[in-house]
Amino acid sequence: MIYLDNAATTFPKPPEVLQEMFETYSRMGVSPGRGSHDLAVRCEMYLQGVRRQVCKFFGGENPDKVVFACNSTDALNTIIQGLAEPGSHVVSTRLEHNSVLRPLHHLQDQGVITFDLVRFDSNGFIDPRDIADLIRPSTRFVILNHVSNVLGTIQPVFEVGRVCREKGVPLVLDVSQSAGVVPVDMRAMNVQAVAFTGHKSLLGPTGIGGLVLAEGIEVRPVRFGGTGADSINTSHPLEYPYRLEAGTPNILGIIGLSAGMRYVEREGIGSLHGREMSLARLLRDGLASIDGVKMYCAENLDNHTGVIACNVEGLDPADFSAILDGDFDIATRSGLHCAPLLHQDIGTSPRGAVRFSFGPFNTADDVAAVLLAVGAIAGP
Ligand SMILES: Cc1ncc(COP(=O)(O)O)c(C=O)c1O
Repeated sequence: MIYLDNAATTFPKPPEVLQEMFETYSRMGVSPGRGSHDLAVRCEMYLQGVRRQVCKFFGGENPDKVVFACNSTDALNTIIQGLAEPGSHVVSTRLEHNSVLRPLHHLQDQGVITFDLVRFDSNGFIDPRDIADLIRPSTRFVILNHVSNVLGTIQPVFEVGRVCREKGVPLVLDVSQSAGVVPVDMRAMNVQAVAFTGHKSLLGPTGIGGLVLAEGIEVRPVRFGGTGADSINTSHPLEYPYRLEAGTPNILGIIGLSAGMRYVEREGIGSLHGREMSLARLLRDGLASIDGVKMYCAENLDNHTGVIACNVEGLDPADFSAILDGDFDIATRSGLHCAPLLHQDIGTSPRGAVRFSFGPFNTADDVAAVLLAVGAIAGP
């Protein structure tokens, strides 16, 4: 099988990630606790080590401001709901995933916030000046998808960060698609919070993700429960990271996240990205020579990740993907990719498109097989 659905989740995972999950969890897969038995203390110290690793990876300032969550959807819910204040305003974009759009809509429907979304251009990029124009005194934060999960376009975060700094508004970055293939440096980018997921280009398992917060940004707790400390107190603790974590953490996922990040660091983000892009270029060039194939925002692959969305004229994208799967054993993702406004704007709503997305284990042979398959499907 040729797996080209890496933007949904990377598969397979590096064998050393799975091995480390097995070995470390076998040794200390217990509930962490600061003032508890030896093994629990060791597990807590291990968690703190991973918080330091995550903090450094994203250019954060303080490992206590690394908050683990189930995935980026969970992390985004925490930050969006924890920052929103009654009567406040939010600026975001039409590139966003539903994990941003739906929490915003939910808060708007409840009468808590209002929000505005900037458009992207015909190449799939937003203009930071549009963000500046929408910021008003009541704007509580700007939230931006770093890399589009449909188009693969890397958004101009440095410029947006500059705009936000000038306007004094925090910038929240959804790095679900960028973490592991595009460098993320919160301090250099002037980003006050990133929401990440472990199972995409960070090469960890599903079920783990989190937030990294800059100093100075205060997020209200939106979930409450046990934190393993100060149990006499009926209020949830206000100190980080426990302020935004409740319940037993996903130790197995955290081990996998740590191992995945180490794999990424060893291989090098630049090298992983470069390999993906050479495959994406091969695919783009090959698809461009097949009559009846329409690609979206792939003419220029600068500032891009290894994601190509396309359709075959006259063929429903769901059928296109099903034929690739059934007849050619090629796994892709069709439909709206949880980004309904983006598909509206590129003219592919409501049926969407087929997305090919590369991971570290794809090869040029995979691309050759895809081109043969698409040639046969689109052919006369
Ligand atoms: C841009 C973007 N944001 C958020 C998410 C949500 O990630 P998760 O399902 O891991 O929460 C995804 C996943 O596809 C994504 O591509």
